[in-house]
Amino acid sequence: MNTPVEGFSKLTKTQKIDWIATHCTKDPKKTKQLLQQYWNTDPRVQKLHDEFIENTVSNYYLPFAIAPNFLINGELYAIPMAIEESSVVAAASKAAKFWLERGGFKAEILGTEKVGQVHFIYKGDKKKLSDFFALAKPELLKSVASITKSMEKRGGGINDIELRDLSDKIEGYLQLHCTFETLDAMGANFINSCLEQFAKTLKEQALAFDAFTEEEKNIEVVMSILSNYVPNCLVKAEVSCPISELGNTDMSAEAFAEKFVRAVNIAKAEPYRAVTHNKGIMNGIDAVVLATGNDFRAVEAGVHAYAAKEGQYSSLTHAKIENGIFKFWIEVPLALGTVGGLTTLHPLVKLALEILQNPTAKELMQLVAVAGLAQNFAAVRSLVTTGIQKGHMKMHLLNMLNQMGATESEKKQLVTYFKDQTVTNASVKEALEKIKSK
Ligand code: MEV
Repeated sequence: MNTPVEGFSKLTKTQKIDWIATHCTKDPKKTKQLLQQYWNTDPRVQKLHDEFIENTVSNYYLPFAIAPNFLINGELYAIPMAIEESSVVAAASKAAKFWLERGGFKAEILGTEKVGQVHFIYKGDKKKLSDFFALAKPELLKSVASITKSMEKRGGGINDIELRDLSDKIEGYLQLHCTFETLDAMGANFINSCLEQFAKTLKEQALAFDAFTEEEKNIEVVMSILSNYVPNCLVKAEVSCPISELGNTDMSAEAFAEKFVRAVNIAKAEPYRAVTHNKGIMNGIDAVVLATGNDFRAVEAGVHAYAAKEGQYSSLTHAKIENGIFKFWIEVPLALGTVGGLTTLHPLVKLALEILQNPTAKELMQLVAVAGLAQNFAAVRSLVTTGIQKGHMKMHLLNMLNQMGATESEKKQLVTYFKDQTVTNASVKEALEKIKSK
């Protein structure tokens, strides 16, 4: 590709495919075939996907799987997960089963507050600005009445608008720090529409505020946008059981419980471990967030900021032993929606929500937090007992065999063979060659 393309977005889908195939790939014919192979056979479904984003040329599949047997607050759930990593769903299912026999998971909502900010520059008299804000606040609220009307009818809307002075960080920098209740919607569009109107009204009101000098009247709005940091949109999920009920491994139940708590404490104390520990949690969280049509990038950004809220990146989960009881829990911020966005558009998202009994956003927060906790339990349990590679490589075996071109019957034979053998690239290759040479 040696020349830029003009007006790519205006080309038809076929023209886009022609362009990409001829300019960026060695075998244009094969490229076109491959892209088409992933189109949906129903043109209406394909059109839907084409229109989710710009310049769509095909679909990118991820496996959509089910982790059953999650007992959460006394209700049984089968949790849909969209993820490519081999051992995640198996690990989630295993953890669900383990806790099913020990009272299940408990989850509770600690808050549902969303945040948005209007960032602006004002270099004048601060006392005048706070007097102005006291007068302008009701006008700001009034100016978004048409946007908030239906949200308010359902019990949500704007919680508060605060004037925050951050001029010690950047000269003249202040904010309208706004908090929202968006109920079952993730709320990004609602929040951003409110903020953009606040920004307009702020400028208009400032121009009309007589106590300001001409310079003070010209408030410079830099930007208006929601924050994906939602420390008060928080959910807690936990499991607990008498230590004696943990005894399912090679070591004693006490030794296992203590080693498990130590492993979690290492993740609390040490960022290198904390990042990987939390990555394992996000294996569960992202997979459910994605399957239910939510924005996993927003969730990721907010969760990691929360993990660093004390000034050092740390574990999202906690574990302790108290009076012979093992307790393991997670506290995690999750801004999720079960209405709007992809939830009513993407057929598989609709199905995922139906499988979850059409949860409210609060219920979904609980389910997602539980998926994260279960994933972390499974990972730490493996790490402090057998090590992670045993289970992981077993799950990866099929990927390896597919890559090596094994037939269905070879795969079947080798899956049985590797039940009690160590899986490595070399050992799988050797075993496959042996079968093929017979
Ligand atoms: C792999 O995707 C996730 C783990 O590394 C998580 C962990 O180390 O806790 C197994």
